[in-house]
Amino acid sequence: MAHAQLMDRNLALELLRVTEAAALAAAPLQGRGDKLAADQRAVDAMRSALGSVDMKGTVVIGEGEKDEAPMLYFGEEIGNGLEPEVDVAVDPIDGTEFTANGLPGAMAVVALAERGSMFSTHVHYMDKLVVGRRARGVIDIDMPVEWNLRRIAKAEGMHPRDLTVIILDRERNKEVIEQVREVGPRISLISGGDVAGAITAANEQVTGKHVLLGSGGATEGVLAACAVKCLQGDMQARLHLRDDAERAIAEKEGHQPGKVITIDELCSGKNIFFAATGITTGDLLKGVRYEDFYAYTHSMVLRLASGTMRYVDAWHEMSKLRAKGLLPEQVL
Ligand code: FBP
Repeated sequence: MAHAQLMDRNLALELLRVTEAAALAAAPLQGRGDKLAADQRAVDAMRSALGSVDMKGTVVIGEGEKDEAPMLYFGEEIGNGLEPEVDVAVDPIDGTEFTANGLPGAMAVVALAERGSMFSTHVHYMDKLVVGRRARGVIDIDMPVEWNLRRIAKAEGMHPRDLTVIILDRERNKEVIEQVREVGPRISLISGGDVAGAITAANEQVTGKHVLLGSGGATEGVLAACAVKCLQGDMQARLHLRDDAERAIAEKEGHQPGKVITIDELCSGKNIFFAATGITTGDLLKGVRYEDFYAYTHSMVLRLASGTMRYVDAWHEMSKLRAKGLLPEQVL
């Protein structure tokens, strides 16, 4: 079958099973203080679920290097080996601290697109600017914060002080926070989980939050770009290089330090699929909940080709989850 036809299958619905499995596996460990164990359970479940998807996948955004991360490492081949050939970006838990501390906003995330279409880097952080569809095309991360906020406000049809800007609450984002304060918008400071933050900004008409600014994880930036593109929003980024060693990594990877990375460079695919399932309840998704016989999950599924955004409620029979090892006996 032709590649285009193969990509025509809604792989996002298969990805949904992948993020559901990761969330269901991690959720029993929420609030138990062990982020490594929660992450390991999510990674194992995600890998096993990805293994049954009809695809020849390569992990381009993963859990680290082969030696340090035995599973879902950069470059790992994943899927059952059948066509299509795709790039896979994973974050089995975006919000490992949230999960371990029983705090809102942790989710399992996966994105998939044509082979060779996703940006890949080992640099740790990226400066990000994300907006919704009304402000598509008006942003320039190289220009001052004020310049961007005024243009975004105009595109949104509002005064700059009525914008809400999401920023990761980090020392390195202090300057950006001050620059936003000088212009006057509200700031929603988040303590983590900027993939959800980017989706929230790209969905501004529903969420009432219009912009994500500041630096966060680079791998999360690529995952966010996949979702933002499916939502017809816009994003620009720049590698945030902390020292000469990171500058050398960027250069070795062929990235020009300081260069603006557009949303199409973050993911050039025309067939992008994205899925996320809540682990703990946050602004975007409800977390895993246990009822009498079922475990409940809440997910978001996006597909660029059709422009569809789906929210999926699912009830999973607990005895079957136990049989699959997704629900340990000793926890519930
Ligand atoms: P993990 O749970 O995968 O570690 O990431 C959580 C997160 O908050 C991301 O959403 C964000 O991009 C990144 O960490 C920010 O990194 P840091 O906490 O080092 O500033």
